[in-house]
Amino acid sequence: MSEPLINQSPSQETWLTLVGSGQAAWALGSALHGSGIRVQRVVARPNGRGAALAQRLEASWVPWHAGQPLPKEGPPSPDPSRLEPSRPGPTRLTLLAVSDDALPGVASFFGTDQTDALVHCSGTRSLEDLDVHPVRGVFWPILNLSKAVETPWKGAPILIQTEDASLHQTLHHWAQRIGATARDVTEVQRQKLHLAAVMTANFNNILLHWGHLLTQEWGTHRDLFPILAQQLNEFEQNPQDPLTRQSGPAWRGDQQTLESHLRLLQDDPEGTALYRWFSSLIQRLRDQSPT
Ligand SMILES: NC(=O)c1ccc[n+]([C@@H]2O[C@H](COP(=O)([O-])OP(=O)(O)OC[C@H]3O[C@@H](n4cnc5c(N)ncnc54)[C@H](OP(=O)(O)O)[C@@H]3O)[C@@H](O)[C@H]2O)c1
Repeated sequence: MSEPLINQSPSQETWLTLVGSGQAAWALGSALHGSGIRVQRVVARPNGRGAALAQRLEASWVPWHAGQPLPKEGPPSPDPSRLEPSRPGPTRLTLLAVSDDALPGVASFFGTDQTDALVHCSGTRSLEDLDVHPVRGVFWPILNLSKAVETPWKGAPILIQTEDASLHQTLHHWAQRIGATARDVTEVQRQKLHLAAVMTANFNNILLHWGHLLTQEWGTHRDLFPILAQQLNEFEQNPQDPLTRQSGPAWRGDQQTLESHLRLLQDDPEGTALYRWFSSLIQRLRDQSPT
């Protein structure tokens, strides 16, 4: 890790600029603010939820469209360095919580005149997307972040990537303050974990959607919980490939059961397509499996 470029002493005050007002901005902003980290300003497009988020975080609200001049962050009044000349001024940090595709464009406006360090919270975008700034980092929580649902931060992994020693310390400090577990990763590790999170959690949520559709008439979706919990528990405890624990009609080759399920799905073309695709994948994997 390189020598710190931001030269922040552990006791030094930070001013955080949060860019964006979507799900991640709400969840991360609320967690950081709730743990005593001061959010100085919320910068977001004028038509979004920026004003409401700024109010929640007791920050100032800067409506901004990428491309327009962005007001420079100034010292608060009164300037603390004048009251206490020996005390260094605050370190300005900027956390970008905008859509992945918008990230490089938005980042290009946050050079050294705007901030002392630039951080994004994407699982997949490169650290190099922040190359407008020499002090850059990634702070990616492996969690679903949303405005509506309280985030279960306790012990959750937050993956950190930075080459700056002082920013590294600050990002670990943030994770600790919000009760999460910080872990340093390389870019490739983070991007692979992001892909894994999308395929396991994001795609799985679509299957849970079918669980909801098929049980909503009787409100019995909770009956699925023990089998799902069993599966997750095994995944947590057992390092073996979950394919070694595969079961179900396609794995066993119970053709009549497969047909009866497809009859139940006859009014649902997407459910039918999903069922057929998964069943044939399971059969192919079973046929290739060594046992
Ligand atoms: N949600 C999660 O579960 C989660 C978890 C971990 C990390 N993240 C990361 O968090 C970041 C934000 O994701 P999100 O889920 O919060 O997305 P989101 O709810 O869709 O919010 C996206 C934000 O980006 C802003 N934005 C989009 N295009 C923009 C542009 N061209 N210029 C300026 N602002 C723009 C949007 O502004 P408007 O409101 O004006 O449209 C909005 O504030 C992403 O990097 C994502 O990978 C998300």
